[in-house]
Amino acid sequence: MAAAGAEGFVLESTNWEGHPVTLIAANSDQGLLYGAFRLLALMQQGEPLSALDVHDAPRLKLRVLDHWDNPDRSIERGYAGQSIWDFWRLPGYVDPRYTDYARADASIGVNGIVLNNVSASSVYLTPRWIAKLAAIAAVMRPYGIRVYLSVLFNSPLDLGETSTGDPRDPQVIAWWHAKADEIYRAIPDFGGFTVKADSEGRKGPSQYGRTPADAANVLARALAPYHGVVLYRGFVYNNHLDWHDLKADRARAGVDNFASLDGKFEKNVIIQIKEGPIDFQAREPVSPLFAALLHTPQAIEVQTSQEYTGQQRHMVWLPSMWQWVLDTDMRVDGKHSPVKEIITGKTFNQPTGGFVSVVNVGMEPNWLHHPMAMANLYGYGKLAWNPDESLEKIIDTWTRLTWGNDPQVDRTIDAMQLGSWNVYESYTGPNGVGTLTNILGYHFGPGIESAERNGWGQWFRGEKDGIGMDRTVATGTGYIGQYPKELAEKYESLATCPDDLLLFFHHVPYDYKLHSGKALVQSIYDAHYDGARAAADYVPQWESLKDKIDPERYEKTHALFEYQAGHAIVWRDAINNWFHQISGIDDVQGRVGHHPNRIEAESMKTGGYRTVDVVPWETGSGGKAVECHAVKGCTLTTTLERPAGRYDVAVQYFDIWHGVSTYTLSVNGAPIATWKADDTLPPAQPDSHLDGQTSTRRTIHHVALKSGDVLELRGVPDLRLELFHGAQASGLTGAQGLRMEPNLQEYAPVDYIELGPDGPITPQ
Ligand code: GCU
Repeated sequence: MAAAGAEGFVLESTNWEGHPVTLIAANSDQGLLYGAFRLLALMQQGEPLSALDVHDAPRLKLRVLDHWDNPDRSIERGYAGQSIWDFWRLPGYVDPRYTDYARADASIGVNGIVLNNVSASSVYLTPRWIAKLAAIAAVMRPYGIRVYLSVLFNSPLDLGETSTGDPRDPQVIAWWHAKADEIYRAIPDFGGFTVKADSEGRKGPSQYGRTPADAANVLARALAPYHGVVLYRGFVYNNHLDWHDLKADRARAGVDNFASLDGKFEKNVIIQIKEGPIDFQAREPVSPLFAALLHTPQAIEVQTSQEYTGQQRHMVWLPSMWQWVLDTDMRVDGKHSPVKEIITGKTFNQPTGGFVSVVNVGMEPNWLHHPMAMANLYGYGKLAWNPDESLEKIIDTWTRLTWGNDPQVDRTIDAMQLGSWNVYESYTGPNGVGTLTNILGYHFGPGIESAERNGWGQWFRGEKDGIGMDRTVATGTGYIGQYPKELAEKYESLATCPDDLLLFFHHVPYDYKLHSGKALVQSIYDAHYDGARAAADYVPQWESLKDKIDPERYEKTHALFEYQAGHAIVWRDAINNWFHQISGIDDVQGRVGHHPNRIEAESMKTGGYRTVDVVPWETGSGGKAVECHAVKGCTLTTTLERPAGRYDVAVQYFDIWHGVSTYTLSVNGAPIATWKADDTLPPAQPDSHLDGQTSTRRTIHHVALKSGDVLELRGVPDLRLELFHGAQASGLTGAQGLRMEPNLQEYAPVDYIELGPDGPITPQ
């Protein structure tokens, strides 16, 4: 049993007094629990119990989920409703959902949960709140899960209990020691602290001329007597970089801030490193910080919450990306040193290591909104247990446990999930350019130039002459020099830099010839058409399973796949249009900028609609859309000149967060579809813009049409009057009035109508 260690287990089919029995053996309660969950999973997959022989133990000591939940139940980057932690009713009322969550997490091997946002409030450290944390910890404990807390670096000062936040000040040191004693009295198995400091405007040790090691060590010393740890985040960077400085580079920040501190941290400090040097993009190179800390335990941080990867409205199975990161061999000192072995502590002989995921489940019944998104949480748990587990096995097990053992269901879902990261990457930002989302909004739809010309440093430097960040040592920011020699050489040379990371490392002309043989811009055009088509194909693949899936989950998933298919076209067109304009290079296949099946709303005959600009221009077809400001509604009509046949008719409109406009599509005066634009998702923020985040598609399938038919779209806006008080109402103090607040209106906006996508489907 030695190999099982503290958390592993053995499952065996054996005999007891002549009777066949199933044995679960472990060195701890936690091991028995994991063994029991494994047994249940095997039974659910129909495994015979007569020949069990499973010996398993986790490879990583810390398998921790980060919640970015705030005290008011909002969640930073949460896409499935409010926080599950009802802090106001704790500790008196303990929601049974906590137990469900603990059970689900334990079943995938999670052994720690950081309860609150990395951008932390100091309120959690007050006695009243510690009692609340203790109530959650009591639910988690039987499931082998320790609770952790994100702490505000200068909490004692913030709470008014010291006169400084300087981590070397004796008052501050004493405060943290007393606080740790208090926490452990309430929560004897408390896991420790997570810290985000000196980043994105958060205060940090630098304001006192101190280092991250000073800040981490004061906390670590306070926790050490209780075996608690500090997960100090390597995500420390300046978000006011100078765009004009060609040497400025956010990607450098991790190594620049931490490498010189290697060896200066207490033993119970773990540096928590985001997988890539920027921020959870669809693809980034692996952070070079993994190779720069030889004397400090490390944890990798990934994001199950799909912040930049479709916010649980697009299906994107992220374990494919994570395993690509874990398998990357950093070649430290020219030796085999894949990230997965660095974070287990093996490569640099560290006593501990960790695998952390930001998860942000919410109050929605299925935790993460998209029925397919739980596969990300499941896959995280499996890779944190064993980073070498095969992706095929992980997804197949998830599919069977979630959707049953029907071979067609399993084959179909497994294949869709396995390909989905590459599909998403190909219709968003390929070639390492970054996700190309609106980084100044809520990171969901395309908003290409939002990344440029500001202090955030997510630049890709798309200019007339070419695109990409020159991060070479020879002529660029020197970032590449932060990698160990072999990797640095590979990335520095255009001859060996992989196509899928090219624009992360190099500035190249748009017609630059890739290793694939294609010109860069043509490859981008093609990838976007292929990716959008692959996303559209999820719909018929899902429909092929209709009789085998329960109606509730079938319909919900179907609607999301339809949405994704439409939104992938928004992405495709925005990015292709932008590249077409900046490069001036035509698509050799003639698709970009030519939409023969598309009827622009602004070119249709209108009854009341008015033309408006879409900003940024590339997120609206032709840069324009139409809006209706008339209470009774407006119409768009067109007379078709098409061969008779059955068509898919797609209406591209904008669904704004707060309003509920109504649309009706008619042919020759007879309505064929009516729907409400009632989406309140993505839920991160109300957005009142017509742009790539709100652009939405409704497709009416197999509509019989012929030349001369009149197609009419009627839109009825949702105009909201707001009651307000005071002088503004009429110039009279104390008066009140009604006004139309422009940001609350949804003017039944329309971008275009498209017939097709491939012309007549079944010509008559
Ligand atoms: C991203 C994210 C923020 C978050 C930050 C972090 O920048 O957009 O919401 O706070 O990551 O990891 O701290």
